[in-house]
Amino acid sequence: MRQDFNPFILTGYTTPEYFCNRENETKRLIKNIKNQQNTTLFALRRLGKTGLIKHVFHRLQAEKKVVCIYIDLYATRNLGDFANLLANAVYQAYPEKKQFAKQFIDTFKSLRPIVSIDSLSGTPELSLDLSGNVKIEKTIPQLLTYLEAQNIPIVIAMDEFQQIVHYPEKNVEAILRTKIQELQNCHFIFSGSHQAMMVEIFHHVKRPFYNSTTPINLTKIDAASYHSFIKKMFEKYKYTITDESIDYVLEWTDRFTYHVQAVCHHLFADGDKKITLEKTQALCLEVLKQQEHIYFQYRNLLTDTQWQLLKAFANEETVTQPYTKKFILKYQLGSAAIVKRSLEALVTKEMIYYDASSPAPYYAVNDKFLMRWLQRLPK
Ligand SMILES: Nc1ncnc2c1ncn2[C@@H]1O[C@H](COP(=O)(O)OP(=O)(O)O)[C@@H](O)[C@H]1O
Ligand SMILES: [Mg+2]
Repeated sequence: MRQDFNPFILTGYTTPEYFCNRENETKRLIKNIKNQQNTTLFALRRLGKTGLIKHVFHRLQAEKKVVCIYIDLYATRNLGDFANLLANAVYQAYPEKKQFAKQFIDTFKSLRPIVSIDSLSGTPELSLDLSGNVKIEKTIPQLLTYLEAQNIPIVIAMDEFQQIVHYPEKNVEAILRTKIQELQNCHFIFSGSHQAMMVEIFHHVKRPFYNSTTPINLTKIDAASYHSFIKKMFEKYKYTITDESIDYVLEWTDRFTYHVQAVCHHLFADGDKKITLEKTQALCLEVLKQQEHIYFQYRNLLTDTQWQLLKAFANEETVTQPYTKKFILKYQLGSAAIVKRSLEALVTKEMIYYDASSPAPYYAVNDKFLMRWLQRLPK
């Protein structure tokens, strides 16, 4: 066992050992893939969508029956970016097959593929030249046709898929949908955080993706299994942690996966092998202190009313009715019209989210550390 290793992973995915639960969701995703169904994976940010996809891929790759391709569309701005990302991911998916790489490059010769070494990771990266007369709307379908022709089952995860709504090209959904419905060997996971937008894409009758996928709504990991996971991880490395400490972490982070992982990561890194409630509480404050300079910057980036509203939401933790007199008076927010405008701005900036999947839909502060920090400010 490596002693320099922190079992609370903060970025990416390592192995199932350090991954908590998600057994049902994993089973459902694998079942969909094996039954040639496309899945839409919805969840609020930082609950673990990307982690779940990587976990499922880890399982599938062990079986060696399916080729897994992952792309994250978050930073893409147009169809060209998308095409390049997909081309590179396809190229990366077959690293051991020299023959494949050559064939791939030959097929896409007209797009002048260039393989260069990424200066940060040191791995070969492929990019296409999509300037000039290239019909970009044909490139993604061509890549998919190419994959289809390999005659092996392929699963392609498109993470942060809602990003396509922002592309300047108008017909992205239709281009994708038309191609995707022809494919027999390629199956898809569309994953996205911006719930309202994902619902638009996949549940709106007039949209091309309407009713074409099986939805999975990822919620928080249940408290009991997260509790025993945390205990097990600490004990494995000869730490002791009290049950009340674990409960405190789960409550203080609102059980958002990233935030739970981050607090546990720091508790572990701290090195003190006896973790008490007092120590846990002190560490949580330390985490807020480390972020404080960023939070002060947020204040400069927001208007006064947006800031007041953000503080109000932090204090309430969840708000089902932000336009009532009672709420507006309590926090001296002016009028319903002002609240509406500020709230829209905060949602667009992704500082506040709207959870529409809950039985009583509500608004809340996106970053639970920011929420805890705001709660400590003078009223
Ligand atoms: N089931 C899990 N067990 C342990 N850590 C997880 C789990 N799911 C996600 N994580 C970790 O939580 C953090 C946030 O998860 P991520 O998958 O990036 O969320 P999302 O993609 O929904 O924004 C990451 O650091 C990830 O490694
Ligand atoms: Mg993600």
